[in-house]
Amino acid sequence: MTDWTRVSTLGDIGDQRQLNCSLHELKLLLVRTGSGVAVLYDSCTHLGKSLYGGRVMGGQITCPFHGACFHLRTGAAVSGPAVSPLHVFPSRLENGIVWADLTHRPAFSAVALVNRSST
Ligand code: FES
Repeated sequence: MTDWTRVSTLGDIGDQRQLNCSLHELKLLLVRTGSGVAVLYDSCTHLGKSLYGGRVMGGQITCPFHGACFHLRTGAAVSGPAVSPLHVFPSRLENGIVWADLTHRPAFSAVALVNRSST
C-alpha cells in the first residue's frame, strides 16, 4: 500500500531544478527530471554528503564531492567511488505538487555504521 505525503511543489523547486529539504526526519533532495521529479534520500552512499548541486544529465546525478554518479529513477550507482545504490522514494507529480511515499525508508547504511563506530 502506498502512503503519499505532499513533499513540495514545482514552484518551490524553481529554476534551480533541485531542492533539498527535511521532512519526517529525512534529508531529501528533489530533482526535476524530464517528466517529473525524483525524490532522493540526500546522502551519497560514498561518504554521506549531500548531492545538492550535483550535475544532472542523462537521467543521472553526479555527487559534487567525489564524482559518484547515480541513476535518478533507480538510484543505482553508475560509477564510483560509491558502489551502493542511492535510496529513491516512490514519487509522483500531480498538478504541480510533488508527492512521495516516505514510508519506504532507506536501509541503515554502511556510512552510518562507520560514523557510529567512530564516536
Ligand atoms: S561523498 Fe559522494 S562521491 Fe564521495
